Amino acid sequence: MAGLAAAVLVRRVVVTVAAVGAIIASVLAPGAVAQLSSTYYDGSCPSLQTIVRSTMTAAVQLEPRMGASILRLFFHDCFVNGCDASVLLDDSSTLTGEKNAAPNANSLRGFEVIDSIKTQLEVACPGTVSCADILAVAARDGVNLLGGPTWAVPLGRRDARTASQAAANSNLPSPSSSASALVSAFASLGLDSRDMVALSGAHTIGSARCAIFRSRVYNESNINPGFATRRRQVCPVQGGDANLAPLDALSSVRFDNGYFRNLMGRFGLLHSDQELFSGGPVDSIAQQYAANGAAFSRDFVTAVVKMGNISPLTGSNGEIRSNCRKPN
Ligand code: HEM
Ligand SMILES: *[C@@H]1O[C@H](CO)[C@@H](O)[C@H](O)[C@H]1NC(C)=O
Repeated sequence: MAGLAAAVLVRRVVVTVAAVGAIIASVLAPGAVAQLSSTYYDGSCPSLQTIVRSTMTAAVQLEPRMGASILRLFFHDCFVNGCDASVLLDDSSTLTGEKNAAPNANSLRGFEVIDSIKTQLEVACPGTVSCADILAVAARDGVNLLGGPTWAVPLGRRDARTASQAAANSNLPSPSSSASALVSAFASLGLDSRDMVALSGAHTIGSARCAIFRSRVYNESNINPGFATRRRQVCPVQGGDANLAPLDALSSVRFDNGYFRNLMGRFGLLHSDQELFSGGPVDSIAQQYAANGAAFSRDFVTAVVKMGNISPLTGSNGEIRSNCRKPN
């Protein structure tokens, strides 16, 4: 009897596993969710994590802002036709890249760090690791090296053969956006309001140019007056467009919830930052993150993994570039 019961139990388990497998397959079938895996390169390129980590460690030691710059590259990649390293392609006679799109020109940086990682990986495991995956791992390490959380990065993306300057101009959110415009821009990529607010917390690190925050510090009323006065000193009414100010006035080289604590006092540097706490639809989320750094950290990890899952190229789509700046 016991043997029969065990056999029945085994059959049930097998049937259940098969059924769950079929459900997962049918959910994934339309290409909705990527089949990325954090162990993707364990056999083919075991040195991936150490090569990225050591290069990012050196880069961040040289200039802490680099952790921020690489995180932003990952964001600008994923929001434009998915996380496919299209943002890394240089303009050429046959290709108009995204680097000169309005949100990117004279602004994105860190391409040399990605090149350095790629060069080392092509020696260690030639033709194996995509530039899109390098960005995802390097962005994670940048966050962690500046005191933020760490997480297992789902991998297995492949690289695009093309880029779209038009999509970069239209899909990347503008710093003049309202909270509701930000909610819908992120929603169109499958990221909800919580994801949007948590991801905006990336502005706890890095800097912005005077050209971007001038109108806020001269013309807006939802801003701390002393803060506006101080920022005007580095941002004249005319000229000084490239002058920098920290996005997080409290600690722009530390990945923490300081960005949200700033918003509570109307110390947001960009219009789009202060929109997250301005009497609008996401105020309560910003308040939660200002009060609870662990909640921010946890939700940021969830959201950045979701962002990394936006429309990756997998299987036989795309390619593994040997140089991140150009198609093979
Ligand atoms: C919510 C909509 C967002 C808007 C409107 C926005 C806009 C901007 C702007 C205008 C800058 C300054 C660029 C410059 O002055 O050259 C900036 C910097 C930055 N952004 Fe965002 N951003 C948004 C969301 C995000 C997200 C989701 C991430 C990453 C997950 C991110 C990461 C960064 C980082 C790290 C910097 C500093 C980069 C550096 O110092 O090199 N941003 N962002
Ligand atoms: C402030 O707003 C006024 C009126 O719209 C405009 O003429 C001026 O250029 C703005 N100043 C800045 C620094 O954006």
